[in-house]
This record gives sequence, structure tokens and C-alpha cells, in this order.
Amino acid sequence: MDDRNGTPQLSPGDLALVRDLLTQAPALTPDALLPLLHAVQQRLGHVPPEAIRLLADALNLSRAEVHGVASFYHDFDLAPTPEHVVQLCMAEACQSVGCRELASHAQARLGVDFDEATPDGRVQLKRVYCLGNCATGPNVRVADRIYGRVTPERLDALLEDSR
Ligand code: FES
Repeated sequence: MDDRNGTPQLSPGDLALVRDLLTQAPALTPDALLPLLHAVQQRLGHVPPEAIRLLADALNLSRAEVHGVASFYHDFDLAPTPEHVVQLCMAEACQSVGCRELASHAQARLGVDFDEATPDGRVQLKRVYCLGNCATGPNVRVADRIYGRVTPERLDALLEDSR
């Protein structure tokens, strides 16, 4: 469900949870922002836009300030984590054997840029710098498994398995 501005709304349970966290905070001052963001991340698995609004209102901060902090720290996800994260190594050894072309292929195939999830939210493409498998590039990691000498065709098969 979205509000009039298109901001996704929290479910009643998640809304109650965020309100509960606010009532449990020792003080509703800007110093409480990081602990509250951690609590929201831990309980909801990410920090949704509606939670940012609630925290900003409660702590007398602007939404931009809360969003700025939440997006600055890698501890916080602003969207639900996709089911499958496909990591492409973009470091030097993999560059020398075509990882840039492989990345372009992956982006075109999924219709996303790096750090974006597919519209169904299931697959996210990430760039990493060295997977420790430099002799067999280009390298791709899907879940906990590293695949070496990945061709566009092999990447297509891996992406297909991820969907
Ligand atoms: S440079 Fe790609 S795995 Fe090391």
C-alpha cells in the first residue's frame, strides 16, 4: 500500500513495531537516531521510507537527515534484501579477461545497473573487487559459490538459476 506520494506504507504490525521502538527509546533526541536505525534494521530487515519518516518526526530531524545517515552506513539497507545477490569481480585481473563486457551483458540481461535489484526484487547485481580467485577470471559469486571463467552464456545460466 502506498500513500499519496507513492511512499510504501508499513503494515500495521511493522508500524506498531516502529512506534514501540520509539516509546522504548531512552530519549527522543538526535542521539537516539543510530540506535533506533539499528533496531529498525534488526527487526524489519531494512529501513523502509515510512520508518524514516516516523524517526524524523519523533527526533525532530528532517527526513533528508535521517535518510542521509541511513544511506551513509553500510549497516542499513533501505530496501528489502533481494533473494539472490550476483557479485561480479571488477578488479584488475578480472578486468584483463573481460569482466567489463561480462558486467555490461549482466546489466542488459537483468535490466539493472550495479546495486539495483530487478523489478521483482529477487536479484541484485553487485560489483566486488577481488574474490581471491584471480587466476580463473572473470569471476562471479552467487550465494556462497564462486564461479570462474564465466562466459556470457554461463552467466545467463547462473542468472536463470537465480530467478
Ligand atoms: S581480480 Fe577478480 S578474483 Fe581477483
